Amino acid sequence: MVHHLQSLQDFSKKELLGFINRAIELKKERLSGVSHQQLAGKTVGLIFEKPSTRTRVSFESAMYGLGGQVIFLSGRDTQLARSEPLKDMARVMARYVDGMVVRTFGQQVVTELARYSSVPVINALTDLHHPCQILSDIMTVVEKKGNIEELTIAWVGDGNNMANSWIQAAGRIGFELILACPEGYDPNPEILASVLEEAVKPITVVRNPEEAVAAADVVNTDVWASMGQESEQEERLAIFQPLQINAALMAKAPADAIVLHCLPAHREEEITEEVLESERCVAFDQAENKMHMHKAILERLLGGK
Ligand code: CP
Ligand code: NVA
Repeated sequence: MVHHLQSLQDFSKKELLGFINRAIELKKERLSGVSHQQLAGKTVGLIFEKPSTRTRVSFESAMYGLGGQVIFLSGRDTQLARSEPLKDMARVMARYVDGMVVRTFGQQVVTELARYSSVPVINALTDLHHPCQILSDIMTVVEKKGNIEELTIAWVGDGNNMANSWIQAAGRIGFELILACPEGYDPNPEILASVLEEAVKPITVVRNPEEAVAAADVVNTDVWASMGQESEQEERLAIFQPLQINAALMAKAPADAIVLHCLPAHREEEITEEVLESERCVAFDQAENKMHMHKAILERLLGGK
């Protein structure tokens, strides 16, 4: 059976931790000059209907770093833009490539491609999930703090795709997650309810950012208006202002709490320049780790490891 990565629910706790441990190992091997060729002769198709710097380049670099190759297709490049059915696209692409990495709007695009594809489909961000990002973010937390299961993670901001994937990770792996979101901007209620059925540690949504960060080992945020929500930007600026990650809020967090941001960041909106550029912010390590994590994902899903 083909194993797709549509959301973090597609993997067991053991498998999720396996990605993290393997990515850490691959990072060390790269630093020590080990050359990898386990995906030699394999090709991955990147289908990106939204912009990307990190995810695109880190997937491409990961694939080349394992000896494989990539074909990049933007939203303009395929017949999807002219309404070719996804089930046709999936079956045709699967005859040419060994895996598809997809960034798009609706989660149903990923679901439909996966349904008809005989090669793995990997979700590189939809409106609902950003699973690969959360895996590399957890890898970064494990590197900095030694583990994830004993920690309390705070999410301060929009209940968006990142927040939904953090919720799934918290439920499956088993760590405490506290999300501060403005009323009306909560994470997806169906995802939260289904995760709460299996969660062994608390996953809570609060309104007050100070409450969220008070016992946090990790303080995490993201843009207030995601891709596709540009028309809401002005309205959101006012609503989200009290949730800005700034020095005053960080003073309420434990002194050793680190700050995560998946980038791109909007300075002086969701995070101040001061905090983003401070020692406690690990955003650029997160960005690097995307490449190591994507290697671990590609190796496992395309290489049969
Ligand atoms: N963090 C992230 O997914 O960045 P890109 O949009 O640049 O890929
Ligand atoms: N929530 C953001 C993440 C960007 C990496 C978005 O979807 O635009």
